[in-house]
Amino acid sequence: LWNMRSFVEATTQALRQKIGTERVICALSGGVDSSVTAVLLHRAIGDRLTCIFVNNGVLRQGEAEKVVRLFRENYRLNLVYVDASKSFLKLLEGIVDPEEKRRRIGREFIRVFAEEAGKLGQVKYLAQGTLYPDVIESVSFKGPSATIKTHHNVGGLPEVMPLELIEPLRELFKDEVREVGSELGLPEEMIWRHPFPGPGLAIRILGEVTPERLAILRQADAIVLEEMKAAGFYRQVWQAFAVLLPIKTVGVMGDERTYENVIALRVVDSTDAMTADWSRLPYDLLARLANRIINEVKHVNRVVYDISSKPPSTIEWE
Ligand code: XMP
Repeated sequence: LWNMRSFVEATTQALRQKIGTERVICALSGGVDSSVTAVLLHRAIGDRLTCIFVNNGVLRQGEAEKVVRLFRENYRLNLVYVDASKSFLKLLEGIVDPEEKRRRIGREFIRVFAEEAGKLGQVKYLAQGTLYPDVIESVSFKGPSATIKTHHNVGGLPEVMPLELIEPLRELFKDEVREVGSELGLPEEMIWRHPFPGPGLAIRILGEVTPERLAILRQADAIVLEEMKAAGFYRQVWQAFAVLLPIKTVGVMGDERTYENVIALRVVDSTDAMTADWSRLPYDLLARLANRIINEVKHVNRVVYDISSKPPSTIEWE
């Protein structure tokens, strides 16, 4: 079709024309789609773009700081950082139903985002990193018509805010977005980030989301990413993450009986998340992951590997 350099040039021109002297906001998650969208917009309209990053309290270890730092260091774009973690965690108290978690997080996200957008005033457009698969597939995570899981994102915003949508990546696939990102000079770290769901770790903690359980999952998850990267497997898989199960099992440490949590590892190969297969990781790597998690993460005494494909399983556990 067209190469990514001409895509960048043509899109920048088109965005300038369409937007004129109006203002645009963009919900930035730090994922590759929203990051590329933000950088494209920034290239086109500079200061008239404001990005909003919402910390929903269920992000990975160090994630909020990392995204904010990457953007502040690399771009002079307007970035509003909102730490709403307390209100999100409050809303999740006592909630175990996956769909209820998703609904609560989605609603609160929209509330926080609308509040911030309101403070800016005079905004005409909302930019989103919608991709082609999101447009065509009914289980898309950014489209409004999710059928299997209530996928959360900012797709519902125009209903509460009279904003026009701008979706510059609508015709691209994930690998093309990564090429555009690379054309735009985005840091490798951003370009190759795995997808991360809007409801974040909340849907990877089965059962209630508590600060203690979040701390356990964050540590396990950080080990998974670190070891996947160290072994050179991070880029080869679609996603790799830890899930905290709502059960305890018996173990032994020294000559003491333990009764602690189970971590499940989920690592999948995929091209568009519509179908996926579990990654055939080397046994050595799996062994290292299990050993490190059990040795280093307090309150975990067992690690299991998820060998289910999608369908019939989904990538996330909730
Ligand atoms: P499932 O679990 O349905 O996930 O196989 C497919 C892909 O979508 C991601 N995912 C989400 N992304 N908001 C998002 O932005 C969500 O609510 C959401 N739920 C799942 C998931 O990580 C996988 O890449």
